[in-house]
Amino acid sequence: MSTAISPTAYNYKVVRQFAIMTVVWGILGMGLGVFIASQLVWPELNFDLPWTSFGRLRPLHTNLVIFAFGGCALFATSYYVVQRTCQTRLISDSLAAFTFWGWQAVIVGAIVTLPLGYTTTKEYAELEWPLAILLAIVWVTYGLVFFGTITKRKTKHIYVGNWFYGAFIVVTAMLHIVNHASLPVSFFKSYSAYAGATDAMIQWWYGHNAVGFFLTTGFLGMMYYFVPKQAERPIYSYRLSIVHFWALITLYIWAGPHHLHYTALPDWAQSLGMAMSIILLAPSWGGMINGMMTLSGAWHKLRTDPILRFLVVSLAFYGMSTFEGPMMAIKTVNSLSHYTDWTIGHVHAGALGWVAMISIGAIYHMIPKLFGRAQMHSTGLINTHFWLATIGTVLYIASMWVNGITQGLMWRAINDDGTLTYSFVEALQASHPGFIVRALGGAFFASGMLFMAYNVFRTVRASNPAEAKAAEQIAVVGAH
Ligand code: HEM
Ligand code: HEM
Repeated sequence: MSTAISPTAYNYKVVRQFAIMTVVWGILGMGLGVFIASQLVWPELNFDLPWTSFGRLRPLHTNLVIFAFGGCALFATSYYVVQRTCQTRLISDSLAAFTFWGWQAVIVGAIVTLPLGYTTTKEYAELEWPLAILLAIVWVTYGLVFFGTITKRKTKHIYVGNWFYGAFIVVTAMLHIVNHASLPVSFFKSYSAYAGATDAMIQWWYGHNAVGFFLTTGFLGMMYYFVPKQAERPIYSYRLSIVHFWALITLYIWAGPHHLHYTALPDWAQSLGMAMSIILLAPSWGGMINGMMTLSGAWHKLRTDPILRFLVVSLAFYGMSTFEGPMMAIKTVNSLSHYTDWTIGHVHAGALGWVAMISIGAIYHMIPKLFGRAQMHSTGLINTHFWLATIGTVLYIASMWVNGITQGLMWRAINDDGTLTYSFVEALQASHPGFIVRALGGAFFASGMLFMAYNVFRTVRASNPAEAKAAEQIAVVGAH
């Protein structure tokens, strides 16, 4: 088998743009996370101003880390993976460029409007209707570019990573459009098309599947490409990956009601959400095991390759959070965990441990290839980043477990005469040490991103335009 250079080339420009912005938004979003975590330790940091208050900055944090950092990582990797596995250039350079600039415009819109207090008040769907419409247009264009590229593939087969990316793109469009249906009354104010318990159900059908499809399925697409690539081993079981795909997408969509236990939602819907969440453990672990076992025969590489370590540890956290989630979905457990910091710890086990770590691993893998370099500027700095991220995540989630269980138990403690044993403020005081540890863990994680930015900057600076151009050539494996 020989490798020939094809006359056509990949569109790496848009991949480079999204990859760089992943790092930039990662620093801003996580930096803001550290800031709001510090506000919970030192309330003076709210500065008594509406724009800098916790209530307004918290949704900005979630929008920046999920849509700006996570979203850019998903755009960058999906455009990279779809081109390489289909052996073809993106179907349209101008539409791809539109998705880049359109997506950045949505993010800048969020940075301006959320601190000003413009919000739909629906979690993870806060952006008011003009920005929501722009987001929908960018997303549909993304779908056209992605699926259009698949239709012009040179390979017979559609690699499984693309199935995951494809499902993530289609379902995200559906969720966003249905949940955002609303009646605008002014340029910055709209009312949801749904009311009461229906509104809550639609919102958490959206919210949970934003987790299931945006924060999980898309990143599993990443896992199926970058883990085998970095380990230089084929995926452990291709058959398992197909079963994993169908089982995951069939089950996830039913689990939303676990966010609404003990509410006005009909009881049968809550029980259905609980049952589906428990069953969801099976495909989640199937996928995690498939990724882990890909390292069979390559485990020794973990000693020298910190990029692989990022990818493998992300799978471990994925396994952990998808075990914790089904447990928290059990109504009796949820009666303790709901409203407490336990949920926040679970969120960040998934968000820092899984989403951020796999994205960081994938970006470190791609950057040298995108800029025609053999490797990143410094492997030592990647290693430093790895330890800061891992220690940071552990500090974050361990402190939130302690806080969550403390809060849950203190809130439900009752004296013999039926009165509450503790006031709310006492539970808050008991949480203070945990808040400090969480802010410290977050600072560890965020400072790792600064090392990444420097390492990426040095790698890019060392590249010259000819090297970067050469990297874009499509190497057709098997051509003679
Ligand atoms: C340095 C890293 C980070 C720090 C210090 C941090 C800190 C925080 C804090 C303090 C909150 C509010 C908690 C509360 O209301 O009690 C929060 C919420 C949240 N963060 Fe982060 N965060 C970080 C990274 C991330 C990342 C990378 C993601 C996603 C990829 C993420 C997703 C979320 C989500 C979804 C929530 C809302 C949770 C809920 O409502 O249950 N965070 N974060
Ligand atoms: C089998 C997989 C999973 C199940 C069954 C599950 C289940 C749950 C449950 C029961 C809650 C608490 C709901 C509440 O009391 O309000 C929750 C919250 C949450 N989970 Fe998971 N989880 C899973 C995986 C994940 C992963 C991998 C991530 C992140 C990447 C994640 C992100 C979140 C977020 C962001 C919330 C907070 C939502 C909010 O209240 O704002 N989950 N999950």
